Formats: sequence, structure tokens, C-alpha cells
Amino acid sequence: MPPAGITLASLPKNFRRIRDVSRRSCDNISLGNLLRNTRADEGSLTRAARWLQEQIPVRYARRIEDFLQLPHVVVSNPHFGQVLQTYLETFEAIDNFGSVNDMARVVQFRHLVTKEMSKHGDGTRQIAEGYRQIQHAFPHIKLDDFLQKLFTSRIATRILMENFNGMHEPREGYTGIVSTGMSPLGIVQGLATDIQRLTDSIYGCSPEVEFRGNLDCTLDYIPRHVSYMMQEVLKNALRATTERHQLRTSGVTAARKLPPVIVELQQGDVHVIIKISDQGGGMPKRLQREAWQYGWTTAREDTNSHDASVFLGGCHSQSLKSELAGFGFGLPLTRLHAQYFGGDVFMQNLPGHGTDMYVVLTHLKEGTPSTEMEDLSTLLEKGSFQESSFNKVASIM
Ligand SMILES: Nc1ncnc2c1ncn2[C@@H]1O[C@H](COP(=O)(O)OP(=O)(O)OP(=O)(O)O)[C@@H](O)[C@H]1O
Ligand SMILES: [Mg+2]
Repeated sequence: MPPAGITLASLPKNFRRIRDVSRRSCDNISLGNLLRNTRADEGSLTRAARWLQEQIPVRYARRIEDFLQLPHVVVSNPHFGQVLQTYLETFEAIDNFGSVNDMARVVQFRHLVTKEMSKHGDGTRQIAEGYRQIQHAFPHIKLDDFLQKLFTSRIATRILMENFNGMHEPREGYTGIVSTGMSPLGIVQGLATDIQRLTDSIYGCSPEVEFRGNLDCTLDYIPRHVSYMMQEVLKNALRATTERHQLRTSGVTAARKLPPVIVELQQGDVHVIIKISDQGGGMPKRLQREAWQYGWTTAREDTNSHDASVFLGGCHSQSLKSELAGFGFGLPLTRLHAQYFGGDVFMQNLPGHGTDMYVVLTHLKEGTPSTEMEDLSTLLEKGSFQESSFNKVASIM
């Protein structure tokens, strides 16, 4: 494999092929359709493998073309280069796989898909790190449109590939990748404990997390997505609370004086709404829009600020702190994940007091509007993504 960045000086060798494949149309899949075709018999598996073999390269080819149109200083960043390299490899591996005409080939294809998926595991982190470096050197470069497309496609391709993988081993309580009757409470409780531990190891204390509302609520959803979204909003809430209140108090009494973060769950007919409230001081009005941009963060400033150095004490590693915050990707990616299935994320700020975050998750029951709506990565190609998902949510709030 050439070192990251090498491919960027020139067009990839298979550029013509990439361009041709990117011009092909994508099937407008819905999650409902995907779930209805999620069966473990030989015919279904073969059809799914052939279909994936057509669909995945189109999506990768389009993103590769997007990469190649970025400014040189962006694509020559080693992290961006590394991600582009994995896109090129996956495109080539799947495009060149050859025909799938029996179960042995289906199994080989499954192994290939699993292998390729694992190569993309740290893609988000790589892009976040790369964007941080790019923005540091070239603050005027904004890549929100590129990143929105990249991450929407990433969600789509992972769903397709994971669902195909899951078809081979049906699990109790799951339809494909969708967990039926999943309890968000269990997921949020586990995450809260982990993030409290992380916060404590950085700052020496952490707020309590309290749970209220309809604790028994359930929904059909993809657990990984719920974990991701809740992790991001909880990290933000715990960080804001600790930074605001720890500086105002001192010593061992600090931990007792931190106001709790409240997680409230409510169940609607087609939605579960999770509200996370903190007393971390909120944000000034002028910054509330910027917080949704990729790469916008106050965490880097903190590192240099006098106040922060008082409680960081120089002994807590910066890498630990960057696990809690620092890339400015948490909010935009959380909203993208929720919107992907017709949900949304709203932020209500009381500057000087705190923040309420509303995460609206749509039930992914087969046959409901959220599962039957067109895959957002295809809507996005047509430029109608934001509008359609906002309209959907506006009608339920
Ligand atoms: N609950 C909150 N209270 C106060 N400020 C917040 C809250 N949530 C987000 N913010 C502000 O919005 C910024 C962007 O949040 P976001 O989660 O996107 O990035 P981050 O937390 O800085 O980094 P990361 O990508 O690691 O999550 C934060 O740096 C912080 O200034
Ligand atoms: Mg964050």
C-alpha cells in the first residue's frame, strides 16, 4: 500500500473506472425494504450479495470523486489521504470480486465485506483529526458539505454491509441490524458510567447522571446508533457541567457541588424522545449556530486557557481529554445520525445556566414512514435531504 497521500499527487490508476461507476444510478432503498429482504436462505443471501456488489462501488466511487475535487492542501493531509486510500481499496476489492453464483462465493463475499468494513473502523476519527490539522493551518477552509455527504454515505454503506453480514447469523430480538423492543435506558446507563469515569479521570470529579420519565420505554432501532448519539450528548453535558462548576469550587467539595445531568425518556407513538439537561452554563446565542458546524469546538481553547491549566494540573494527558471533547464533530454527527431515519436533535440553551438537548429517535418498525422513506444518501445526492427530514420532524414537535 502506498504511503498516505501518495495517490493524491495524481489521479488513481483506475480513475476512469471510478468515474464510470460513479455515474451509475443508485437504488433508492428504504430500510423497510432492506429488512423485508433480510432472510438467511441461500436465494436471499445470493441476491443480497449480488445487489451489494452493484450498490457499494457506486457509493464509494462518488465519494472518491468528492475527495479528488478537494483543495490540494486537504487531500495531501495524511489523515484524509489514509481515508481516501481505504475508499480506493474497498472500491477496487468489491468492484473486482467477480461473479457470485453459489454459496461458496457468497461466503467469500461476506468475508471480503467484513474485512473491508474493518478497514474503515477509525475513518471518522481520522477525518476529525485531519480536519483539525487543516483548520489549524488554513482556518478559512470549511468542508461541511463534503463531510455531510461523506458521513451520510458512511452511515448508508455501513448499514448495508452490516445488515448483509447479520443475514448470515439471524439473532433473537433482531431484524437484520435493527434491535426490536430495545430499551434505551440500559444503553444510556452503561454509557453514563463510562463517561463519568472518564470525566473523573480528567478533572478529578464528575456530575451524577439521573434518570427520569418513562424508564420502560422501548423502540426498534440500531443499538450502535443510539450508543453513538447518547455518548456524544452525554460527553458534552458532563464536560460543560464539570468545567463550569469545578472552577467555582475547590478541592474535595467540588464533586458534591456539581449539579446532576438529567436524562429524561419519553415515549410517543412513533418516536422516543431523550432529553439531556445540564447546568453547564449553556452557550452565548451568537455561538449556537456555529456549534453545529464540523470542527467547531471550544475544547482546544480550553487547553491553553489559564483556568483550564489550573485543574488539568499538567498531569492528565491531553489524549485522555481529547476522548471527552476536542474535534467539534459530536453535535453535527449526532444530528446526522438522528436525521438519517427521520428523527432530529434540538438544542435549547439558557446562556449562563445550562443546556437541554432533545434527541428524537424514530421507531424503525417495518412499514412505518421512517423505514419506508428513501435512503438519505440517495436523497442527499439529489440535494433534498435536509428539507425532507426537517419537514418530517417539524410535524411531530
Ligand atoms: N451541553 C453543552 N453545554 C455547553 N456547551 C456545549 C454543550 N454541548 C456542546 N457545547 C459546545 O459546542 C461545541 C461543539 O460540540 P461538539 O460535541 O460538536 O464538539 P466537541 O465536544 O468540542 O468535540 P467532540 O467532537 O470530541 O465531541 C463544544 O466544544 C462546546 O463548546
Ligand atoms: Mg462533543
